[in-house]
Amino acid sequence: MTSVGSPTVVHTRAPGKINVFLAVGDLQDDGYHELATAYQAVSLYEDVRAHAANDFTVRFTSSQAGIDLSGVPTDDSNLAIKAARLLAETTGYDGGVSLSIDKNVPVAGGMGGGSADAAATLLACDILWNTGLSRDELLRLGAKLGADVPFALMGGTAVGTGRGDELSPALAQGTFQWVLALADYGLSTPEVYSELDQHRLRHQGEITTVRQPRVDSGVLQALRAGDPARLADVMYNDLQAPALHLEPGLGEVLELGEQNGALAGVVSGSGPTVAFLAPDLDGALELQIALSAARLDVVRATGPVHGARLIAD
Ligand code: C5P
Repeated sequence: MTSVGSPTVVHTRAPGKINVFLAVGDLQDDGYHELATAYQAVSLYEDVRAHAANDFTVRFTSSQAGIDLSGVPTDDSNLAIKAARLLAETTGYDGGVSLSIDKNVPVAGGMGGGSADAAATLLACDILWNTGLSRDELLRLGAKLGADVPFALMGGTAVGTGRGDELSPALAQGTFQWVLALADYGLSTPEVYSELDQHRLRHQGEITTVRQPRVDSGVLQALRAGDPARLADVMYNDLQAPALHLEPGLGEVLELGEQNGALAGVVSGSGPTVAFLAPDLDGALELQIALSAARLDVVRATGPVHGARLIAD
């Protein structure tokens, strides 16, 4: 299937993300909620190596402590396989791909690891198969695969509306220092959204919200200024309360971080990863040591970083 001039293996890399702000609006008829979110891509990466093959396969490795690969499917339900198949169908490519993915983003952790796999796979297969789609076409395909896939392609800092997939880049300055507390279990994104709906039903008598979700202007100002203390004051996630309801232990993790020098902590996306914002690199290192001493699995990351890109080996 390999044509003259095509590479036999393509290596791409896509980042995980933190939602530094996430407001959830109404449940739509398509089962998705309207969102307003500010994404930051962070330096935990999924590395995809795509080899020419006749069928579609994926295998995973990880060099990152605290990453549990046991729950990751490798059949057709895997998002990377779905991404490769979607690209083949869309472009009429009649071969397959063998994917090897080195995972560094927590599994089912609310940091968009599966979405990063899909984004890096779209880019890798586009190059491997010489299908030559534009960035916009890849973004459109990404949105069909999942709400966070377009952002994993784009990277940097962006505001997401709609399902979270309608992106506009946001200005950001400097580098933010994060310490991430990983859980040894995952949370199901649909379950966390459904818990939020149930909560609204219990407390408001209906699921619908009164307001259109919007990203707080203070968040955009703090990102633009590169000011972690200001960002810490305005970080927010509507999915935090339902994630805490499903996993009450996350409350202690949040407290522990804030007692040990974090400017603020927030559940990342639908959780259970908790993202702590540190004042600077020294603060992040101290926090990492303190949380490790409390027997939490922690990793450090910085943001913003680039979106999906080709790696020259
Ligand atoms: O798009 P993705 O596969 O990441 O979404 C997983 C699930 O999360 C959806 O099926 C839906 O239940 C929920 N979701 C939502 N509203 C969004 C994004 C995700 O309700 N904007």
